[in-house]
Amino acid sequence: MAAALDAATVKAAYRRYARVYDLLFGAIFQPGRRRVIRSLGCRPGERVLEVGVGTGLSLPLYPPETRVVGVDLSRDMLERARERVARLGLRQVEGLLEMDAERMAFATGSFDKVVAMYVVSVVPHPERLVEEMCRVCKPGGDIYIVNHFSSDHPLLRASEGLFSRFAGKMGFRPDLPLEPLLEGTGLQLVEAGRTNLFGYWRMLRCRNGCRSELAA
Ligand SMILES: C[S@@+](CC[C@H](N)C(=O)[O-])C[C@H]1O[C@@H](n2cnc3c(N)ncnc32)[C@H](O)[C@@H]1O
Repeated sequence: MAAALDAATVKAAYRRYARVYDLLFGAIFQPGRRRVIRSLGCRPGERVLEVGVGTGLSLPLYPPETRVVGVDLSRDMLERARERVARLGLRQVEGLLEMDAERMAFATGSFDKVVAMYVVSVVPHPERLVEEMCRVCKPGGDIYIVNHFSSDHPLLRASEGLFSRFAGKMGFRPDLPLEPLLEGTGLQLVEAGRTNLFGYWRMLRCRNGCRSELAA
Protein backbone atom coordinates (compact mmCIF):
# COMPACT_ATOMS: atom_id res chain seq x y z
CA MET A 1 0.00 0.00 0.00
CA ALA A 2 2.69 2.48 1.08
CA ALA A 3 4.54 1.81 -2.19
CA ALA A 4 1.74 3.57 -4.16
CA LEU A 5 2.86 6.96 -2.84
CA ASP A 6 6.43 8.17 -2.76
CA ALA A 7 7.87 11.68 -2.64
CA ALA A 8 8.17 11.97 -6.45
CA THR A 9 4.58 10.78 -6.98
CA VAL A 10 3.27 13.22 -4.35
CA LYS A 11 5.18 16.14 -5.87
CA ALA A 12 3.91 15.29 -9.35
CA ALA A 13 0.31 14.93 -8.14
CA TYR A 14 0.36 18.28 -6.28
CA ARG A 15 2.06 20.02 -9.20
CA ARG A 16 -1.07 19.08 -11.16
CA TYR A 17 -3.44 20.05 -8.33
CA ALA A 18 -1.80 23.36 -7.34
CA ARG A 19 -3.66 25.62 -9.78
CA VAL A 20 -7.10 24.14 -9.09
CA TYR A 21 -6.65 22.99 -5.49
CA ASP A 22 -8.53 25.88 -3.85
CA LEU A 23 -11.45 25.43 -6.20
CA LEU A 24 -11.66 21.66 -5.68
CA PHE A 25 -10.79 21.37 -1.98
CA GLY A 26 -11.19 24.87 -0.55
CA ALA A 27 -14.80 25.11 0.60
CA ILE A 28 -15.41 21.39 1.03
CA PHE A 29 -12.58 20.95 3.58
CA GLN A 30 -12.98 24.33 5.28
CA PRO A 31 -15.22 23.17 8.18
CA GLY A 32 -12.44 20.82 9.34
CA ARG A 33 -9.80 23.56 9.10
CA ARG A 34 -12.00 25.99 11.05
CA ARG A 35 -12.75 23.40 13.72
CA VAL A 36 -9.10 22.55 14.31
CA ILE A 37 -7.93 26.14 14.55
CA ARG A 38 -10.79 27.11 16.85
CA SER A 39 -10.05 24.11 19.06
CA LEU A 40 -6.30 24.90 19.15
CA GLY A 41 -7.15 27.96 21.27
CA CYS A 42 -3.84 29.58 20.33
CA ARG A 43 -2.43 31.99 22.88
CA PRO A 44 -0.29 34.98 21.88
CA GLY A 45 3.28 33.99 21.08
CA GLU A 46 2.60 30.27 20.78
CA ARG A 47 4.43 28.54 17.95
CA VAL A 48 2.32 26.29 15.74
CA LEU A 49 3.64 23.99 13.03
CA GLU A 50 1.34 23.00 10.19
CA VAL A 51 2.70 20.10 8.16
CA GLY A 52 1.51 19.76 4.55
CA VAL A 53 0.26 23.35 4.63
CA GLY A 54 -0.50 23.20 0.90
CA THR A 55 -1.81 26.45 -0.61
CA GLY A 56 -2.24 27.91 2.88
CA LEU A 57 -6.05 27.90 2.99
CA SER A 58 -5.91 27.64 6.78
CA LEU A 59 -3.40 30.44 7.35
CA PRO A 60 -5.87 33.38 7.53
CA LEU A 61 -7.75 31.50 10.28
CA TYR A 62 -4.90 31.67 12.83
CA PRO A 63 -5.02 34.60 15.26
CA PRO A 64 -2.56 37.37 14.31
CA GLU A 65 -0.57 36.97 17.56
CA THR A 66 0.26 33.31 16.82
CA ARG A 67 3.51 32.34 15.12
CA VAL A 68 2.76 29.78 12.43
CA VAL A 69 5.31 27.80 10.45
CA GLY A 70 4.10 25.77 7.45
CA VAL A 71 6.03 23.06 5.65
CA ASP A 72 5.21 21.22 2.46
CA LEU A 73 6.92 18.89 0.02
CA SER A 74 5.39 20.58 -3.02
CA ARG A 75 7.02 23.79 -4.24
CA ASP A 76 3.99 24.48 -6.43
CA MET A 77 1.55 24.33 -3.49
CA LEU A 78 3.88 26.48 -1.34
CA GLU A 79 4.09 29.10 -4.05
CA ARG A 80 0.31 29.57 -3.73
CA ALA A 81 0.60 29.76 0.05
CA ARG A 82 3.29 32.45 -0.22
CA GLU A 83 1.12 34.46 -2.62
CA ARG A 84 -1.76 34.24 -0.13
CA VAL A 85 0.42 35.42 2.77
CA ALA A 86 1.67 38.38 0.74
CA ARG A 87 -1.76 39.26 -0.63
CA LEU A 88 -3.49 39.16 2.77
CA GLY A 89 -0.51 40.48 4.79
CA LEU A 90 -0.70 37.55 7.24
CA ARG A 91 1.69 38.57 10.00
CA GLN A 92 1.00 35.37 11.97
CA VAL A 93 2.99 33.40 9.38
CA GLU A 94 6.59 33.13 10.56
CA GLY A 95 7.74 30.97 7.65
CA LEU A 96 6.78 28.62 4.83
CA LEU A 97 9.42 26.02 4.10
CA GLU A 98 9.89 23.33 1.50
CA MET A 99 10.53 20.28 3.64
CA ASP A 100 9.64 16.61 3.96
CA ALA A 101 7.44 16.37 7.04
CA GLU A 102 8.65 12.81 7.61
CA ARG A 103 12.17 14.18 8.24
CA MET A 104 12.07 17.75 9.46
CA ALA A 105 15.02 20.02 10.13
CA PHE A 106 13.53 21.45 13.38
CA ALA A 107 15.04 20.75 16.78
CA THR A 108 13.15 18.40 19.09
CA GLY A 109 10.36 20.14 21.05
CA SER A 110 10.34 23.30 18.88
CA PHE A 111 6.55 23.84 18.73
CA ASP A 112 3.68 24.22 21.21
CA LYS A 113 1.18 22.71 18.77
CA VAL A 114 1.48 20.66 15.60
CA VAL A 115 -1.26 20.23 13.02
CA ALA A 116 -1.77 17.95 9.99
CA MET A 117 -4.90 18.60 7.93
CA TYR A 118 -5.67 16.17 5.11
CA VAL A 119 -2.04 15.02 5.03
CA VAL A 120 -1.58 11.67 6.80
CA SER A 121 -3.15 9.74 3.92
CA VAL A 122 -0.94 11.58 1.42
CA VAL A 123 2.55 10.89 2.80
CA PRO A 124 4.40 7.67 1.94
CA HIS A 125 4.80 6.61 5.61
CA PRO A 126 1.98 7.95 7.84
CA GLU A 127 3.42 6.53 11.07
CA ARG A 128 6.80 8.10 10.39
CA LEU A 129 5.06 11.44 9.83
CA VAL A 130 3.20 11.18 13.13
CA GLU A 131 6.37 10.22 15.01
CA GLU A 132 8.12 13.23 13.52
CA MET A 133 5.21 15.50 14.50
CA CYS A 134 5.57 14.16 18.06
CA ARG A 135 9.33 14.76 18.04
CA VAL A 136 9.13 18.44 17.06
CA CYS A 137 6.21 19.12 19.42
CA LYS A 138 6.88 19.95 23.07
CA PRO A 139 6.18 17.04 25.44
CA GLY A 140 2.52 17.23 26.46
CA GLY A 141 1.80 19.66 23.56
CA ASP A 142 -1.26 19.45 21.32
CA ILE A 143 -1.27 17.48 18.08
CA TYR A 144 -4.26 17.73 15.75
CA ILE A 145 -5.02 15.53 12.77
CA VAL A 146 -7.91 15.86 10.34
CA ASN A 147 -8.24 13.13 7.79
CA HIS A 148 -10.39 10.49 6.25
CA PHE A 149 -9.61 7.02 7.61
CA SER A 150 -10.87 3.71 6.25
CA SER A 151 -14.59 3.46 6.84
CA ASP A 152 -16.34 1.14 9.33
CA HIS A 153 -19.12 0.57 6.81
CA PRO A 154 -18.43 -2.65 4.81
CA LEU A 155 -19.62 -1.24 1.45
CA LEU A 156 -17.72 2.00 1.79
CA ARG A 157 -14.68 0.08 2.98
CA ALA A 158 -14.82 -2.16 -0.09
CA SER A 159 -15.05 0.81 -2.49
CA GLU A 160 -12.18 2.54 -0.70
CA GLY A 161 -10.16 -0.64 -1.23
CA LEU A 162 -10.93 -0.52 -4.95
CA PHE A 163 -9.98 3.15 -5.26
CA SER A 164 -6.75 2.60 -3.33
CA ARG A 165 -5.11 1.20 -6.47
CA PHE A 166 -5.31 4.74 -7.92
CA ALA A 167 -3.67 6.31 -4.85
CA GLY A 168 -0.60 7.40 -6.83
CA LYS A 169 -2.72 9.17 -9.46
CA MET A 170 -5.09 10.75 -6.91
CA GLY A 171 -2.27 11.82 -4.59
CA PHE A 172 -3.85 10.26 -1.49
CA ARG A 173 -4.92 6.84 -0.25
CA PRO A 174 -8.60 6.44 0.59
CA ASP A 175 -8.23 3.40 2.88
CA LEU A 176 -5.78 4.44 5.58
CA PRO A 177 -6.53 2.62 8.85
CA LEU A 178 -6.56 4.74 12.00
CA GLU A 179 -5.52 2.15 14.59
CA PRO A 180 -1.79 1.82 13.70
CA LEU A 181 -1.39 5.58 13.99
CA LEU A 182 -2.75 5.57 17.51
CA GLU A 183 -1.13 2.37 18.68
CA GLY A 184 2.32 2.62 17.13
CA THR A 185 3.19 6.27 17.90
CA GLY A 186 3.47 8.75 20.76
CA LEU A 187 -0.06 10.07 20.22
CA GLN A 188 -2.45 10.05 23.18
CA LEU A 189 -5.98 10.50 21.90
CA VAL A 190 -7.93 13.12 23.88
CA GLU A 191 -10.95 13.65 21.62
CA ALA A 192 -12.21 12.30 18.31
CA GLY A 193 -14.97 13.89 16.27
CA ARG A 194 -16.35 13.89 12.75
CA THR A 195 -16.28 16.80 10.35
CA ASN A 196 -17.02 18.00 6.78
CA LEU A 197 -19.63 16.53 4.45
CA PHE A 198 -21.52 13.53 5.94
CA GLY A 199 -18.99 13.46 8.79
CA TYR A 200 -16.76 11.44 6.47
CA TRP A 201 -13.53 12.99 7.89
CA ARG A 202 -12.32 12.72 11.45
CA MET A 203 -10.73 15.26 13.70
CA LEU A 204 -8.35 13.87 16.31
CA ARG A 205 -7.17 16.00 19.21
CA CYS A 206 -4.16 14.35 20.81
CA ARG A 207 -1.57 14.99 23.45
CA ASN A 208 2.06 14.44 22.62
CA GLY A 209 3.06 11.45 24.69
CA CYS A 210 6.67 11.44 23.45
CA ARG A 211 9.33 12.51 25.91
CA SER A 212 11.76 14.74 24.03
CA GLU A 213 14.88 13.00 25.20
CA LEU A 214 13.48 9.70 23.94
CA ALA A 215 12.22 11.15 20.66
CA ALA A 216 15.54 12.89 19.87
C1 LIG B 1 -4.51 17.25 0.48
S1 LIG B 1 -3.26 18.46 0.60
C2 LIG B 1 -3.72 19.30 2.09
C3 LIG B 1 -3.26 20.73 2.09
C4 LIG B 1 -3.74 21.58 3.27
N1 LIG B 1 -3.35 21.01 4.54
C5 LIG B 1 -5.24 21.81 3.24
O1 LIG B 1 -5.86 21.88 4.30
O2 LIG B 1 -5.79 21.99 2.15
C6 LIG B 1 -1.87 17.50 1.12
C7 LIG B 1 -0.58 18.32 1.17
O3 LIG B 1 0.43 17.52 1.82
C8 LIG B 1 1.66 17.74 1.14
N2 LIG B 1 2.57 16.64 1.44
C9 LIG B 1 2.49 15.35 1.03
N3 LIG B 1 3.52 14.63 1.51
C10 LIG B 1 4.27 15.47 2.25
C11 LIG B 1 5.46 15.32 3.01
N4 LIG B 1 6.10 14.15 3.12
N5 LIG B 1 5.96 16.39 3.64
C12 LIG B 1 5.33 17.60 3.56
N6 LIG B 1 4.20 17.81 2.86
C13 LIG B 1 3.68 16.76 2.21
C14 LIG B 1 1.24 17.84 -0.32
O4 LIG B 1 2.24 18.44 -1.10
C15 LIG B 1 -0.03 18.67 -0.21
O5 LIG B 1 0.24 20.04 -0.28
